[in-house]
Amino acid sequence: MRLSSAPAVAACLLLGWLNPPVAQALTVAIPPVARAMTAATPPMGWNSWNWFADKVTDQDIRRAADLLVSTGMRDAGYVYVNIDDTWEGERDAAGVIHPNAKFPDMKALADYVHARGLKLGLYSSPGPLTCGNYAGSYGHERQDAATYAAWGIDYLKYDLCSFRDVLDSEHVIDPDERNRRIRAAYATMHEAIEASGRPIVYSLCQYGFDSVWEWGGAVGGNLWRTTGDINPDFDRILVIALTQLGLGRYAGPGHWNDPDMLEVGNGKLSHDENVTHVTLWAMLAAPLLAGNNLTQMTDDVRAILTNRDVIAIDQDALGRPASLVHQEGPLQVWSRPLADGAVAVALLNIGTDRAQVRDLPPRLREAGAPTGAVAQDVWANRSLGVLRTSDTLTVPSHGVILLRLAKP
Ligand code: GLA
Repeated sequence: MRLSSAPAVAACLLLGWLNPPVAQALTVAIPPVARAMTAATPPMGWNSWNWFADKVTDQDIRRAADLLVSTGMRDAGYVYVNIDDTWEGERDAAGVIHPNAKFPDMKALADYVHARGLKLGLYSSPGPLTCGNYAGSYGHERQDAATYAAWGIDYLKYDLCSFRDVLDSEHVIDPDERNRRIRAAYATMHEAIEASGRPIVYSLCQYGFDSVWEWGGAVGGNLWRTTGDINPDFDRILVIALTQLGLGRYAGPGHWNDPDMLEVGNGKLSHDENVTHVTLWAMLAAPLLAGNNLTQMTDDVRAILTNRDVIAIDQDALGRPASLVHQEGPLQVWSRPLADGAVAVALLNIGTDRAQVRDLPPRLREAGAPTGAVAQDVWANRSLGVLRTSDTLTVPSHGVILLRLAKP
């Protein structure tokens, strides 16, 4: 948790005029003012990249903001509207970054987004160029953070990209030294954000290299990508989800593992695959950043993205990601403890045929369910009561049954 030091500084200046004993007594009486934690729960919102990629414009962002409101997504928690790469224009003679012609007035866009109860996110790189070859923040970190703050930016995704070329050009070959330089580059932007005075969620994107989960928090990250890019393909989504296992202990309020943005509603993902994607991200306490075309969102996709009970698991205050507690062929049992003592259990079927889950009581005990717990089928929104030995649950191929198990 960050503490605001401004009141303390003002108090010290005032106390300088008083005699020492009085000053000491007053010092004790003035409590520090706590600032709200940034990203106390995994950030939720929408990001332009997975659908629009380099085509995104100011108009697309305004429409996305409107649709987040009208579809109920904002009220379900999706508050960040994040512009990914390709908004960047030229720097002026003073080195100040300007948006390109696709984004005529970033401050006006931020005002538009804020007026709808949403927040605006932006993208840059510690290198001179972004992954899309637009201007990065290399050598301009303080200036850029100050510009973002002046525009009213609330979230920054900072993507490694060409910083590796900088290291190459300086002949930094030793992996440890490269990692030290990369950490320093991320810390530099964190310090710049702090200096800007605006609370900005800081999202590290360097694809999970160098076990970023071990040091992402230390350089100021509120979240860090743990993987290369996602795409709307079930196998890819599954590989990413499975490679998050074991990383749970590095996540918690204010600092999250980021298995990349959602592909729900993109490509040819089936209903069950979309449900599984959101379930796994919720079990992992992952950021929920939708990446679909909101202008063509089906009711089915909207319902999947806005399921309040699933979102409540993702956003659970304990912030403890799931672990895999059991595997039998294509069936996996994932378990996540929740703040109120309940347990979320996902019965996941990664196979191509349905999976029948029998002998439930010992499996649920193994998953940490409280004794005598009543099971809520979260996606079906119905109580299954206390599951017994004679009960069987059928999980469709590439599908999942998500249970919330709580004492009655
Ligand atoms: C990288 C990131 C993506 C996206 C693109 C933009 O590939 O991993 O999420 O931001 O850059 O160029």
